[in-house]
Amino acid sequence: MTTVEKVNLTTGTGWGSGPCIGNTGSIPRLNIPSLCIQDGPNGVRFTDFITSFPSGLATGSTFNKALIYLRGKAIAQQHKIKGVHVLLGPTIGPIGLKAKGGRNWESFGADPYLQGVSARYTIKGIQEEGIVACVRHLIGNEQERYRQLNEWSGDYWDNLEQAISSNIGDRAMHEIYLWPFADAINEGVGSVMCAYNRLNNTYSCENSYLLNYLLKEELGFQGWVMSDWGATHSGVSSVLAGLDMNCPGEVIGEWLSGKSYWGPLLTRSIYNETVSEEKIDDMVTRILAPFFLLKSMPVFYDIPNFSSWTSHTYDQEFPYQNFGPIKQINWHIDARNDFTEETALQVAQESIVLLKNDGKLLPISREDGVRRILVAGSASRPSNKGFNCKEKQCVDGALFQGWGSATVNQPFGITPYEAISARARKEMIAIDFSDDNYQFDHTEELASYADVSIVFVSADSGEGYIEVDGNFGDRKNVSLWQNGDELISHIADNCHKTVVVITSVGPVDMEKWIEHENVLAVLWSGPLGQYSGAAITSVLFGDINPSGHLPFTIAKNPLDYVDIIEDIPGDGEPQDDSFMERDLLLDYRYFDENKIKPRYEFGFGLSYSRFSLCNLKIKEINCPSEYLPCPLPYLPPYRFDDQYDIADPENALFPYEELTPVPGFIYPYLFNDKISSVDEYCYPNGYSPEQRKEPVAAGGGLGGNPALWDVLYNVKVDIKNEGPYDGQYVAQLYIEFPRDETCTDLLDTPPRQLRGFEKVKINFDSSVGISFDILRRDMSVWDPHEQNWRIMRGVYKIYVGSSSRKLDLCGEIDISY
Ligand code: NOJ
Repeated sequence: MTTVEKVNLTTGTGWGSGPCIGNTGSIPRLNIPSLCIQDGPNGVRFTDFITSFPSGLATGSTFNKALIYLRGKAIAQQHKIKGVHVLLGPTIGPIGLKAKGGRNWESFGADPYLQGVSARYTIKGIQEEGIVACVRHLIGNEQERYRQLNEWSGDYWDNLEQAISSNIGDRAMHEIYLWPFADAINEGVGSVMCAYNRLNNTYSCENSYLLNYLLKEELGFQGWVMSDWGATHSGVSSVLAGLDMNCPGEVIGEWLSGKSYWGPLLTRSIYNETVSEEKIDDMVTRILAPFFLLKSMPVFYDIPNFSSWTSHTYDQEFPYQNFGPIKQINWHIDARNDFTEETALQVAQESIVLLKNDGKLLPISREDGVRRILVAGSASRPSNKGFNCKEKQCVDGALFQGWGSATVNQPFGITPYEAISARARKEMIAIDFSDDNYQFDHTEELASYADVSIVFVSADSGEGYIEVDGNFGDRKNVSLWQNGDELISHIADNCHKTVVVITSVGPVDMEKWIEHENVLAVLWSGPLGQYSGAAITSVLFGDINPSGHLPFTIAKNPLDYVDIIEDIPGDGEPQDDSFMERDLLLDYRYFDENKIKPRYEFGFGLSYSRFSLCNLKIKEINCPSEYLPCPLPYLPPYRFDDQYDIADPENALFPYEELTPVPGFIYPYLFNDKISSVDEYCYPNGYSPEQRKEPVAAGGGLGGNPALWDVLYNVKVDIKNEGPYDGQYVAQLYIEFPRDETCTDLLDTPPRQLRGFEKVKINFDSSVGISFDILRRDMSVWDPHEQNWRIMRGVYKIYVGSSSRKLDLCGEIDISY
């Protein structure tokens, strides 16, 4: 490839300059198309006839690996049909440190193990379809506020000199935040998106320690790093720091300007030898390699059949720029089939969590004397603006998705009211309905003679570029929206059998009503996508036995959550540090360590059946050594011996005779042939153009040292379904690491950490045996002094149960070397 060809692959063509959310330059001479890079994690954004899948948070709460894999596959199939090459998902950062974090609904739940396993199975599903997955956001994007400069003005925002910095220590980095990324890399993910925020005071997308060292060296990542949209703050610095692709291409905030830190400037820096040929070759190889790895040439040569910028069939070629001839730009291809629809419905059904069921009120049945039901709450019917208001920011109806770039256009949305009334009709149950969340007279009257009242409430959040009712992405508080608490209380005061159904983007405060004697049953779910109402109804009526589990802890006291940073000091001053404060104590770890009783703990979830566990057996598979074995030396790096064309910058000038520039489009060509040579460029500290010969001790394979994935122990348990229904059980395995305050050699660890989960179907009165493999990684701690994973000496306790606190069985592993 020529230099301009190489640069063209690395730099996005600019916002709106192409059919997709991100578009790279193409290389027609080599048949390399412009890559179509599209959101996202819950379905194909900005197009039609696709499926609105359950959110990442709902998916995490299924705790069902096989289903998580199928969802990834189904989402990727639809991207493939639409001609997308790179899918911007799954989201695994935010990890969920902050309960109010706006984008927690996109990722799988507040635990690194759950995020890691979910990411792995999602990526497997996506990439088997030949689509390259892009895990995001690396790293510490735990709040939306101040994630980037100039997103909002007013108060602090005007004075913001830099985006927020997530300051994360070495152990928390490895054991919490980076953990799921290691799984993604081990699974072979093709690309990684660096985040808007800074990490330890350096922008994520120009943080050499993060990208060059942690990601590419220690975790052995072989694919490419792309910036979040506008998260690139420099040219050469970001390239040398390990960024391989700049998206969507422009200088931050200057959409449609055609100005880029990369593009022509990157070409110039290669011509004047500031950026070496090896470096640009490495970037380009990283970008192309995943397509070869996935053998996805058919996908690679496909071109998108939709436009992200208009829904019309015919429009200008560049509708966003109002430029170009009118042509067909949307083909409206239907990407749905039985598999995609069944998967979306099943994920939604299996994700719903039964939190309370006093007196076995649920499932609802006419046989139990239920003849009249009240369905209440505006969240039970469509929003007045329909299902597809802009970026999903209308919050006056049923919550199908959060808001922002992870949303999709819904082909329909089944509301709770629609599904319940259809289901109830079958059983000749009468339905009353009230959607007034503020005037209660009528609702109270209906509640007073209903056999059962079902109240629908919600809480929403989203991405930081949209503000909804004073919520700048992040939630202002953890209360229910639309006066939900009052609504529940008024109904419960009047109806002896009240069911509360919450759909929310994270934990909500339930304290005002959870102990009300008439609130007998509570269901929680994350945003469920288009089948929301159908899935909830199938659980309410017992067509589905609930099997979802909480992917976070619900506190009694909202002060126990980590807050959003609202005050950000001026440049150069230290920043308030909520990350360091919690360190390893993410979510349930903090509650366990401080002996705080939550309302509902991480992993909690009831069933209509009762299950019992017995026969915990632990078997050693491989004898653990304290330190990892040394990784094998690297193979020598591949050197391209092509003909470099950097001698004459004339070769890279804009070919005006062949091409008419599109306004705002970013090209790789030099503006002029003045490349101002540098005699000798000094690489920044820590950067070397030479590849390391020996891997670092913790590295040497995809996701780190290959021995981290060795199975050390196998744990087996038997589970019996005591009835009265067939159902599914999620067995969760937690490990307590050796904790002995008198022994200085031990690194302190949180009381218990999730290290395995298996979901099994068990028929009434039957038993099933399940088995967990405990990997070396699962029993390791990151030793900052050794800069390596280590297995500590002492007694490890192995718990198996149905939540982080309901641990029925316990066994021990004694490790003394
Ligand atoms: C910004 C978001 O943070 C990212 O997740 C998304 O992929 C890009 N916008 C493109 O929409």
